[in-house]
Parts: sequence; structure tokens; C-alpha cells
Amino acid sequence: MADTGKPSAVPAGAAKRSKVTTHSLRAMKERRERITMLTCYDATFARLLEATDVEVLLVGDSLGMVIQGYANTLPVTVEDILYHTRAVRRGAPTPLLVADMPFRSYQVSVEEAVRNGTRFLAEAGAEAVKLEGGTDYVDVVRALVRAQVPVMGHIGLTPQSIHAFGGYKVQGKSEAAARKLVGDAQALEEAGCFSIVLEGIPSDVAERVTAAVSVPTIGIGAGLGCDGQVLVLYDLLGLDQSFKPKFVKRYAELAGTVEGAVRAFRDEVRAGTFPDEAHSFSGGDGRLRALYGGKG
Ligand code: KIV
Repeated sequence: MADTGKPSAVPAGAAKRSKVTTHSLRAMKERRERITMLTCYDATFARLLEATDVEVLLVGDSLGMVIQGYANTLPVTVEDILYHTRAVRRGAPTPLLVADMPFRSYQVSVEEAVRNGTRFLAEAGAEAVKLEGGTDYVDVVRALVRAQVPVMGHIGLTPQSIHAFGGYKVQGKSEAAARKLVGDAQALEEAGCFSIVLEGIPSDVAERVTAAVSVPTIGIGAGLGCDGQVLVLYDLLGLDQSFKPKFVKRYAELAGTVEGAVRAFRDEVRAGTFPDEAHSFSGGDGRLRALYGGKG
């Protein structure tokens, strides 16, 4: 039987939260409450995020870069996203869980898009999918929505188009390009998207797009005029010191913390001071101590 990512344990505090759905996000926009979304790729971080009231977790294809170490998101597969979505679902039952449709999973045909998109709900516990693209993909969005798969759109600096764009370049800078983004967003809403990510576009353009649709927009590098904000979790936590684009705000510097902790462990192992009595079991006969030359 498929593992749909049932939670292994409900984290403390989870019971007080009500389940986030695509409908709750729409209601938040109507109440002018800002939506928070973060990427997440594993159960440990999912458990931590479950306790924070973040509304949406995205198993983004950014995992290709931050987890798998690729130079871009293009090599990520459907199986990769399924694997990580199951893990996140086990750790976080409450937030809306969105699985990113990776490159090649929806570009080849509408049929393949529906075959792949339905897998994230049936086999991994996702409640929605996200896909990159505007008017060119409304047929795919319509088919997924018809198949009962809620779809989050994603326009602007869409990373799967890196080669078509000639690099990671801010989009929508000219008036014509800004109008195209507004048209894309309206077409996605009309096709049934419940929300749209706006990435790497000028703040005033994001505001225009947000005003032109009734579904919530979630910005990344798109200014304050969106209905919500998303960041890559590892960027927010400062886990990669070499990556600092303008739109990323680091709320912690965990790379240094991790390095410091590992160095301290290494030093104590080398000095023979770890494990000490407090971290050892009693009742042994001292044979281990003898094995390591009586050190420590
Ligand atoms: O893959 C991803 O993490 C994303 C977000 C940055 C929106 O698409």
C-alpha cells in the first residue's frame, strides 16, 4: 500500500491549530491577513515548522540545489519530490502541503501532467501542487483542477526557465512584460489556480498583479505588496554562507553554529573527553577503555 506520509507523531501544540486548506488561504486574503509559506524537505524541520503556525509548506524543487547539490532545479524528478513530500507530511499534519511539479513532469503533455500531479496527492499526502508558467500552461492547470488537484501557479523569475531567460534575471521590468505578468496571473486564476507565487519581479508590478486577481499571491523577491511571502528555509536559516541574493533575509546564521558544534565534537573526540561519564552507560568492565590504550 502507498505510504501517504501519515504523521509519525503529532508534535506538541499541533492539536490547537486548525487544518490549513486552500480555502483558508482565500479567506485570509479576504481578511487581509498575510500568508507565510516556507520550503521544507524533511520530517525534522517539518516538526519544527508545525509548531510555528506557518500556513503553507512547499516541497520545492529547490531541493535539487539545497539538498542534492545540483547547480539548478532541472534534474529534480517526480520520485525525488514524492520522497521528500512523504517525509514532510509525517512531520507536519497541519499546514497546507504543496508539492512542486519538477521540470519535465508537466511540460510534455497534459496527460502526463495529470498522471504525475495526482501522484503527489495519492502517494505522498500533498494537498496541492505548484507549477511554473503562465498562459502557456492554462490547459495543464485546467486538467489538474478537473482531476481534483488544487494548483498553485508560479510566474516571474521561474527557475525552470533559467536557460530560456539566460540566467536568474528579474522579470517584468518593461511595461509590456509587466502587463504580460498581469495577464498570466488572470489566466491562471481563470483556469482554477487557488494561489500564485510571484518570484523575482519589481515590487510595483507584484502589487499590480495582486490587485488584478482575487486569489492570494505569495511573493519571493517581489516586495511587500503580495498577500504572503515565501522563502527557502535553508536561506532564512543561513545554512549556506555562500548564497546571499538581495531578496533573502537571514533570520539566523546556522552555518556557523553547525560548524562550531561539529568542531567542538571533533576536538572532544580527539582529546578523549567525549563521551564522559554523563554520556556513558555504567556496568561495563573497562574493556573498551583498554581497547583505546587506556586514554580518557
Ligand atoms: O522550489 C522552490 O523552493 C520554489 C519557491 C522558492 C517558491 O519554487
